[in-house]
Amino acid sequence: MDIETVSPLWDGELCSVRFDRETGAWFVIAVHSTRLGPASGGTRAMVYPSVGDAVADATRLATAMTTKMAVAGLPMGGGKSVIALPAPRAELGDERWRRILRIHAANLDELGGTYTTGPDIGTSSADMDVLRETTRFAFGGSAATGGPGSGAPATALGVFTAVRAAVAEAGLGDGGVAGLRLLVQGLGAVGARVAELAAEAGAELLVADLDPQRCAAAAARGARVVPAAEVTRTRCDVLLPCATGGLIDARVARTLPCAVVAGSANNQLADSDRSGHDAPDHEGAALVLARRGIIYAPDFVANAGGAVHIVGREVLGWTEDQVTRRTLEIGATLRKVFADARAYGITTEQADHALAARRLADAA
Ligand code: NAI
Ligand code: PHE
Repeated sequence: MDIETVSPLWDGELCSVRFDRETGAWFVIAVHSTRLGPASGGTRAMVYPSVGDAVADATRLATAMTTKMAVAGLPMGGGKSVIALPAPRAELGDERWRRILRIHAANLDELGGTYTTGPDIGTSSADMDVLRETTRFAFGGSAATGGPGSGAPATALGVFTAVRAAVAEAGLGDGGVAGLRLLVQGLGAVGARVAELAAEAGAELLVADLDPQRCAAAAARGARVVPAAEVTRTRCDVLLPCATGGLIDARVARTLPCAVVAGSANNQLADSDRSGHDAPDHEGAALVLARRGIIYAPDFVANAGGAVHIVGREVLGWTEDQVTRRTLEIGATLRKVFADARAYGITTEQADHALAARRLADAA
């Protein structure tokens, strides 16, 4: 994707791009909105097809963070960092990775707190510890250094809460998942924990990951492994996208064999314009799912547990119990989104955006 194609479509406040010749890494920081407070959002480090794709990902994800913070009632704006790596992390070597983190820390300092970061795909609490050696603007450091750790466990709890609310909305039971077939795509920090919660609650568990070891570990605990390429064609009650985003476009939505979609991945729907409205000439995935009666728990709501954890612990001084209580409120928020979608004949994504827009307007 060309950078010239991406930027004019974006309504954010700032997007910085930096290249480091020595490591070959590109650094993108996107600040979408600071209306509710300083922007915050994780750092994603991975290989991208082009710099334009990295900018597109950062800007889309930053926009999603604005909605997420607003709907979760957190006094923060939306931002995101993307580090486009020259090679997969495992091939970079520790010295090159450390230099990359040093430069990212310097970029964060340059913004002076307008944007703070935390772990996301490709970065961990240990990486936040390294950032914190030279900047104050990295959250979610490890417990060993006095930090609150990554938000993955809280994210998983929130996703599981969202699954229960969505299952009830779909009429599949009273909110329990016992006996229902749940398919978890992505067994990383969040997905693996959601899978555990689902299995403990008596669900029939299907899993998929590109990493055969992660699949084998889940299979050893009784899950059935599905090929990664088959997740959108495998019959299940609930599909939980917990890998990278963009799994479901309109074409996939037309044949998706499930009753509920609720997962942690940011930007699960590939083709809506993230303002909640499909382009006029285009029936996007959210609308197709709604027309087919598939209940979609918008990712901005379902995966807010990580943001609640990071912002709660680092900015608002909450205890873990307070974080848990606020994370469980995701269930009530989703029930409101579902009720609004039903009442106004709109998609759940549109209902969620309307909720965010009201909160942002109130703050203005
Ligand atoms: P992770 O990097 O720990 O795990 C991602 C997993 O997905 C890996 O096991 C990877 O092998 C797998 N994967 C990647 N592509 C796949 C594919 N096509 N098919 C099957 N498996 C695939 O990431 P983490 O932290 O678990 O996050 C998962 C998603 O949730 C991401 O989209 C992230 O942005 C989102 N999220 C994470 C939060 C957190 O606190 N960690 C908070 C909110 C959202
Ligand atoms: N990266 C996670 C998310 O997308 C957690 C996070 C939230 C990290 C807020 C930093 C700040 O929600």
